[in-house]
Amino acid sequence: MRTELHFHLLPGVDDGPADDAESIALARLATEDGTARVVVTPHVRLADLDALDRMTERLGEVLREAGVALELRPGGELSPDDVASLDQERLERLAHGPPGARWLLLEAPLFSRTRSLDSAADELQERGFGVLIGHPERSSGTPESVLRGHVARGAVLQLNASSLTGAHGGEARRRGFALARSGLPFVLASDAHSPARPPSLTPAAAALIAAGIHESTVRAAVDVLPEAILTAGLGAARTSRRPVPAVHGGRSRLGQRERGTSPVARAAQIFLDRRRRS
Ligand SMILES: [Fe+2]
Repeated sequence: MRTELHFHLLPGVDDGPADDAESIALARLATEDGTARVVVTPHVRLADLDALDRMTERLGEVLREAGVALELRPGGELSPDDVASLDQERLERLAHGPPGARWLLLEAPLFSRTRSLDSAADELQERGFGVLIGHPERSSGTPESVLRGHVARGAVLQLNASSLTGAHGGEARRRGFALARSGLPFVLASDAHSPARPPSLTPAAAALIAAGIHESTVRAAVDVLPEAILTAGLGAARTSRRPVPAVHGGRSRLGQRERGTSPVARAAQIFLDRRRRS
């Protein structure tokens, strides 16, 4: 089931849809893009976390009444500055995955220094959560070497489809393609906000394939890993800070170290193995 892990769909909460009509239009665009399930991820600092489940359930009913076949799950997008202020119960409310493999979406900062991402990711891992790093390609202060360190500690990258289609400018696009080629495990998500900033998995996947990235890698990032991460979770935090080397032309230390330890790592290994054979 094609699953979006980063998507602003709740109406009137953040800078996403303004009202039910816009949410319905956006949800319809998602289904037309081939998506069957969306994790709704409002900016956590703007959302009433006590109402998150209820709002998601209500929107689900609104979509059903409108004839839009889109399954919803409650979630949220953490900014690095949010983490320290949230108690464990609130983080749990935002997390996904089974016990022992719970994870959270943490956005890479667009403006602040990479140190804020480092400290927030470390804190989440120390508190028992895996980390999906949102739109690292948009974070010019977060180099690939830093991301490689987070992946070594169990994180997976979430690239914005909109970056790959050029919606966030040339630099984000260039970094997005570079990360897609880096050998680091990644998923695509739309980070959609409105019909003006719409779902774009299909054009982004086509752009990656047109750029020479193997179709199996792209399909994994769109159709395999997002569902695997949502249902099977992300592996537990690890203490090693050893960086993960690129896999081009060689064996993946990521695969060697994680094989058998995490469902998503196994899924990642499948597409990395396919990539090496291609
Ligand atoms: Fe977002």
